[in-house]
Amino acid sequence: MSESKSPRFIQTWLADAEAERAAARAALAATPASVAPKFFYDRLGSHLFEAITELAEYYPTRTEAAIFAAHGADMANAIGAGMALVDLGAGNCAKATRLFPLLEPSRYVAVDISVEFLRDALRQLQRDHPQVRVAGLGQDFSTTLDIPAEVLGNDRPVFFYPGSSIGNFTPAEALAFLARVRERAAGGGLLIGVDLVKPRAVLEAAYDDSLGVTAAFNRNALVHLNRLVGSDFAPRQWRHVAFFDDAKSRIEMHLEAREAVDVSWPGGGRRFAAGERIHTENSCKYTLEGFAELLVAAGFEAPCSWIDRQGWFAVFWAPAR
Ligand code: AVI
Repeated sequence: MSESKSPRFIQTWLADAEAERAAARAALAATPASVAPKFFYDRLGSHLFEAITELAEYYPTRTEAAIFAAHGADMANAIGAGMALVDLGAGNCAKATRLFPLLEPSRYVAVDISVEFLRDALRQLQRDHPQVRVAGLGQDFSTTLDIPAEVLGNDRPVFFYPGSSIGNFTPAEALAFLARVRERAAGGGLLIGVDLVKPRAVLEAAYDDSLGVTAAFNRNALVHLNRLVGSDFAPRQWRHVAFFDDAKSRIEMHLEAREAVDVSWPGGGRRFAAGERIHTENSCKYTLEGFAELLVAAGFEAPCSWIDRQGWFAVFWAPAR
């Protein structure tokens, strides 16, 4: 009789709601004001992001998928057999699952901020792949990366970080993050998707689409903030702004006050002058050479990379001894 497995769930991160509220209010009160990009992703924001990935202008998701489809077998060759696949920001686990036939992991560890986001997907995945040991880890991997030894077993860890989310860190934060991954990847490595520098018009259209979905995604951060910190932002008073900063090689997203706006929250508040901005996101774009150097600076061995025909997006395999 075959043993039916069920996934393990381990939640190591607990939100400190009061500290989060205090940090969000302090960032709003500062000049220039900012909102951490994590505030994009409430329930509606996650749906809006899904919609963004379907937009004609937003090339990263489909371009990365095409690279995996075209070069997955080469990637599997480079990575080698036998692994615990550690999926950072796993969500619905779809991107990693598509690679299962090629990578044939013996273990799969899905990491996301809350195991609640992972439960349904992992139960289904365990049914579909009974030969794989499946675990869900609730962790804020942007600040801590602590993979319990028991979920890796004796398998070498292969970290998977697709979607060019690395671009939402500053280069200094990205280096620190990659170094943290490197420390835990001995014997395995990192498979990572990275968005590349390209003509400004292509980049700016991807972050300011003609349907206004990205604008809604950006403004929704205010709705989320209102719920979270008790502020009274009126989203209509804010204009979506997205531009490519050449010198910093990044898309910046902001919300700009259309008129003078007074915003209050419990214990405080402030005035924004007409035209004043709240910085909501950076999305850094790398060159192939620049990102390879970052990986090596983080302690990985010389990486290999695969790109699409236009050279818009890259997937890197960075081995770790
Ligand atoms: C999640 N991250 C990789 C997206 C990006 O392209 O930086 C977030 C996003 N922001 C606006 N559109 C998409």
